[in-house]
Amino acid sequence: MLIVTGATGRLGALIVDRLLERVPPAGIGVSVRDVSKAAELAERGVRVRAGDFTEPDSLKYSFEGAERVLVVSAAIRGGGALTANTAAIDAAREAGAERILYTSHQAASPTSLFPPQRVHAATEEHLQRQGVPCIALRNGFYASALGPYIGAALETGTLAVPQDGLVSWTAHEDLAEAAAIALTEDAALEGNTPQLTAPHTLDFADVAETLSRITGRTITRVVMDDSEWTSAAVAGGMPRPAAEFALTMFAASRNGEFNVTDPALEATIGHPAKTVHEILEAAIR
Ligand SMILES: NC(=O)c1ccc[n+]([C@@H]2O[C@H](COP(=O)([O-])OP(=O)(O)OC[C@H]3O[C@@H](n4cnc5c(N)ncnc54)[C@H](OP(=O)(O)O)[C@@H]3O)[C@@H](O)[C@H]2O)c1
Repeated sequence: MLIVTGATGRLGALIVDRLLERVPPAGIGVSVRDVSKAAELAERGVRVRAGDFTEPDSLKYSFEGAERVLVVSAAIRGGGALTANTAAIDAAREAGAERILYTSHQAASPTSLFPPQRVHAATEEHLQRQGVPCIALRNGFYASALGPYIGAALETGTLAVPQDGLVSWTAHEDLAEAAAIALTEDAALEGNTPQLTAPHTLDFADVAETLSRITGRTITRVVMDDSEWTSAAVAGGMPRPAAEFALTMFAASRNGEFNVTDPALEATIGHPAKTVHEILEAAIR
């Protein structure tokens, strides 16, 4: 049985959708925190069992009979993500999985300025030590992460954020398709840390220009000083820890950490990756 975690989240749900095009439902199991959120999958014949990475014993049940497990990384603030994700990987091996996949990030690195990338790097290290064939899918930065910034830009006509850098913004849909293929076709990807990114890189000035083209209005990119932006974000209601976390993303971005593209994603899915223009156009409509 192929087990997918995080199937009630955005990426995991799309992965299961794509898997259902390739594998009969009885061959798919999902491990989710809240089975009631996966009722539709159960109706479609997918095995739905409760499992929480922070309660590893629960994974013995949800991973039972696993031949392959795709661990969709859990984002847990406050230092728990590494423990949770490595617990899921351990549980996959203990369940007898012959292949373990993990959704990492294109910029996974122990020295990243963006803390989640350090967690991914440490999780990848743990994964490679399992003695089981494994793949860390190094997913490109989700284009959906632009959402909170473009909302304000559309209201004010100004995309005012700290200095950033080029990013290979990538669509959930393309990453999900690649993950479903990786889970079902051993030779689909080369190496055990494939970089799965869209082929274009854009910074926020490019995003502002894209928004202007889509809306027919002028959206102006304004570079804000880090502390000025933090104060404005907090004054606008963003909790200070969230604003400081966002700043680390800008710091990593202007450090060039997300300025990476790789042909592996398009080669795997066999069609062009969605562009930021397409993604934003669909999101705004
Ligand atoms: N590539 C990128 O740019 C990027 C950006 C942001 C995040 N990420 C990573 O990619 C992952 C998937 O993205 P997404 O868009 O699908 O996020 P999402 O919609 O927030 O889904 C996250 C999934 O993780 C599950 N989860 C959270 N804590 C868990 C735990 N303790 N045990 C088991 N499952 C747990 C959630 O379960 P519930 O449905 O019960 O909440 C949810 O299904 C994120 O969790 C994060 O690690 C990547």
